[in-house]
This record gives sequence, C-alpha cells and structure tokens, in this order.
Amino acid sequence: MLIPDFLYGTAWKEDRTASLTELAVRMGFRGIDTANQRRHYFESGVGAGLAAAYRAGVTTRSELFLQTKFTYRGGQDHRLPYDPEASLSAQVAQSMASSLEHLGTEYVDSYVLHGPSSGYGWTDADAKVWEAMIKERTAGRARLLGISNASLAHLEQMTAAHKEPPAFVQNRCYARLGWDREIRSFCNERKIIYQGFSLLTANVEVLHHPRVTALATDLKVTPAQIVFSFSRAVGMLPLTGTSSAEHMKQDLASRDLVLSPESVKVIEAIAE
Ligand SMILES: NC(=O)c1ccc[n+]([C@@H]2O[C@H](COP(=O)([O-])OP(=O)(O)OC[C@H]3O[C@@H](n4cnc5c(N)ncnc54)[C@H](OP(=O)(O)O)[C@@H]3O)[C@@H](O)[C@H]2O)c1
Repeated sequence: MLIPDFLYGTAWKEDRTASLTELAVRMGFRGIDTANQRRHYFESGVGAGLAAAYRAGVTTRSELFLQTKFTYRGGQDHRLPYDPEASLSAQVAQSMASSLEHLGTEYVDSYVLHGPSSGYGWTDADAKVWEAMIKERTAGRARLLGISNASLAHLEQMTAAHKEPPAFVQNRCYARLGWDREIRSFCNERKIIYQGFSLLTANVEVLHHPRVTALATDLKVTPAQIVFSFSRAVGMLPLTGTSSAEHMKQDLASRDLVLSPESVKVIEAIAE
C-alpha cells in the first residue's frame, strides 16, 4: 500500500465537506483523514465527495488512502455511530461498519483510535478497543492501525501492553515542544509514522518569525509552505485542512520545496 505524503483533513467542514473533499482529490490529494465523530466531522459528506470524484473519473478507490477513527462516547455528541450500551468491542465493530457505509468502501487504509480514554495512561478500556481494532484489521476492514492524541506515557504503556505497535501516531504538533520531538523520536525508533496536525494553527509564531519570513522571501514561497516542507524534512506526514483551492495548490507544491539542512535545524529549534 502506498502511504501518501500529505493528508487532507476533513474536520469542521459541515455542509462543505463533500465539495471540499472532491476538490482536494481533484487538486491532487490522495490521502484523506476523517473520523466517525459527527460533532467535528461529516463522514458521509466525505463519502459523497469521493463518490463524485470516482464518477468524474478523477481517481479510483485503490489510488486513495482513506483514514478514519473510532471515537469514545466522551468525544461524541448525541449523534453516535454505535450503541453506547454495547460493549466497547461491539462499539468499535459498529463504528467501523458505519464508517465503511459512509465512505462507500469495503476497507479503510488506516483506522485510528481518536484518543486514549484517560489523559493519565493506557487503560483497560483502551486495551479492549485496541484489540477490537486489531480484529477489524484481521477481518480485512482496515489495513493499518493508529492512535491519536497520545502522550509519551500512553505510547510507552501501549507498546508494553500489546504485541503490536501502531503504524501511525497522529498528534497536534507544537513548535514550542520541539515539534513534538520526544514522540517523534519514539516513533522514529519503532518505524511508526508520525502524522502532524495543526502545523499552522498551533504555530502562528513560527509563521511570523523573521527567520521564516526571510527564508520564504528568499525561496519565493510562503511561510506555510516552509512549515509543511520542514515537517517532511524531519520525517512527519503532515495534514492540512485548508478550504481554499489556492492553499491546496500551495500545500501540495511544498512537496517540491527542499530546505537546506541548516534551515531545517533553525526551524526545529525556532520556538524553544
Ligand atoms: N486527531 C485529532 O484529534 C485531530 C484534531 C484536529 C485536526 N485533525 C485533523 O487534521 C486536519 C487539519 O486540521 P488542522 O488543525 O491542521 O487545521 P486546519 O483545519 O487544517 O486549518 C489550517 C488553517 O491553515 C490555513 N491554511 C492552510 N494552508 C494554508 C496556506 N498554504 N497558507 C495559509 N494558510 C493556510 C487554513 O486556512 P484556509 O482554509 O483559508 O486555507 C486554516 O485556517 C483536520 O481536518 C483533521 O482531519 C485531527
């Protein structure tokens, strides 16, 4: 399976989800991130956008990398994709069945636990959910598994408790935390792919930093493109959730931008 070098994020798009998903695919994105969490995502809108792109001959299912998530009751509103009275493993199975229906597919490329159940550590509930996710994978409904919003403690406990480490960690990436340095190095050592979100919105100070704006002027690119190019240079798989066609184009063009090793070092330490 080909893992794309950019993920298009579909959160917070509500009624525009279908048209923006279709636009993202038309613009060249081949990785799509969503969640079966109606509170922040409109997963069936993603499916409608993909169906429109398939109908128009823009792409096919097999060329795409589709990622969705299982979200605990606590992260949902009243629009639940499962019976809250059912066991956690039944909730995972129900949420997956609903995701596949929303997305018009028989499998997802990546299935992600949206966040552990407690901020303090890996719980029995998380272990049950993870084992249920592995079952989904074994049954062929997911190709790879991941976890999101995880701390180092979560990851250490999770990898100690289960034979199988995640293929992905998806986290909000703060420059002031060395761009999530500790977790990125945990991931690097284990060949886990680190997916970074909020690369622009969590790091506004970087976008305005004189070293970054000067570099952008020099290279005739935007500070946002510098940040995305930097993220890839340090081994991340970035997400963008732009609603603008122009920004989609710029974000994808950042793949051709190569920063010098010195620039990468400067940006890595810029907000510490
Ligand atoms: N796992 C989780 O808990 C979690 C949490 C949050 C997000 N996510 C995922 O990550 C995705 C991305 O979310 P995000 O938090 O990174 O924020 P985002 O929704 O992608 O917001 C990015 C912001 O940056 C702007 N932007 C994008 N490209 C730009 C460019 N080239 N130049 C200038 N501005 C640009 C966008 O404005 P324009 O729209 O005007 O371009 C937007 O305001 C979400 O859709 C979701 O799939 C996951």
